[in-house]
Amino acid sequence: MEDQQATLRNAMTRLDLTRDSFADRLGVSRRALDSWLLPATSGEHRRMPGVVAKLLAGLPEAPPVAAGAPGELRARFTKRGKPHLLSVAQFDRETVEALLRVAEAMEPIARRRKVTRVLEGAVLGNLFFEPSTRTRVSFGAAFCRLGGSVCDTTGFTFSSMVKGESIADTSRVMSGYVDAIVVRHPEQGSVAEFARHTHLPVINGGDGTGEHPTQALLDLYTIRREFERLGKSVDGARVAMVGDLRHGRTVHSLIRLLSLYRGLTFRLVAPPSLEMPPALVEAAAAAGHKVEQVATLADGLRNADVLYATRIQKERMSGEALEAYPADFRIDRRALATLCSPDTVVMHPLPRDGSAGANDLSTDLDDDPRLAIFRQTDNGIPVRMAVFAVLLGVEHLVGRDLRDAPWISPARLGPGDAPFHRLA
Ligand code: CP
Repeated sequence: MEDQQATLRNAMTRLDLTRDSFADRLGVSRRALDSWLLPATSGEHRRMPGVVAKLLAGLPEAPPVAAGAPGELRARFTKRGKPHLLSVAQFDRETVEALLRVAEAMEPIARRRKVTRVLEGAVLGNLFFEPSTRTRVSFGAAFCRLGGSVCDTTGFTFSSMVKGESIADTSRVMSGYVDAIVVRHPEQGSVAEFARHTHLPVINGGDGTGEHPTQALLDLYTIRREFERLGKSVDGARVAMVGDLRHGRTVHSLIRLLSLYRGLTFRLVAPPSLEMPPALVEAAAAAGHKVEQVATLADGLRNADVLYATRIQKERMSGEALEAYPADFRIDRRALATLCSPDTVVMHPLPRDGSAGANDLSTDLDDDPRLAIFRQTDNGIPVRMAVFAVLLGVEHLVGRDLRDAPWISPARLGPGDAPFHRLA
């Protein structure tokens, strides 16, 4: 049977309510709701009264994971029968939230409690022509956790593209070998070109300075989960994006995806020459959001609900542009203590630059519970599982095919993360 915490959290998620508005909806005080949401081991934990449990049971049900007919969700964000995920522009709010509900349903598998084999026999082609740790491995792991297997190629050196083979030929060749393809490539638009030459699902794992749509999906998933814990809503959130906003494809996708929500304030903190591309700023403003471009951390981080830091993309700029990057963009314990609030969610797509003197997210924050960076990386698994399940049309089968994982898995993934992942 679902426990009290899970029942309440699931109801809040499916109704998309903050803790305050959920307490209002139940007609109880926020304090009472907080005490019901504490772990049963806490001295402050209280059982919710039977009358509230009955009220919860009477609330509208969430649509099942595979709302509608199998394939309906896929049809909602893919075009002309081509089941690709190339850009966050393919989503509207309802569709992205439906996809994230599928990701929620993947949690027991992603956290190694359950096993499914819905993709048994299917093969993923994971083609990475730029360096990657998270995206490449988590796409592979997500496919394997659905029961499939993975063939990888990394870098141009170990691919026949180094001999001059075109994207079109590579795409056609891979189509004969695998069932879905993830591509990362240094040129903007190259993954779309790859997709034009195949009928298999193609997922953009990052195309130059263009987009990184699944990173934005996992970032939104993380923000929603962190906000749920904090009793906040994405609507009206203040989001500070900091760093190399010109070259960072993760922030390009994220600002577009968050713009599907209402009334956000985006504070874009970038040094001269590394600002967010004007087209993306204009699109966010045209969608009704407040967009402030500021040059200092002090101006950007004030009252931020989310601080999203990015690495300087040295590989995409010349030496002189790099020297212009000021030292006061370093985000460390001191910056957080002076500029952020106790519930600011601190995010970064990673990798962060850990070299001496780097102006990136500092490792002195690693014990700070506001630092959500590893919860972000962990969330890449359920989100990418959801993307595969939907694109390959098996999302409705996952719930029917679950078995308990027979091996011993860790109770926690990293120090202090268990409560955030609801493992404790
Ligand atoms: N966030 C991200 O894309 O990381 P990798 O470059 O390691 O894949």
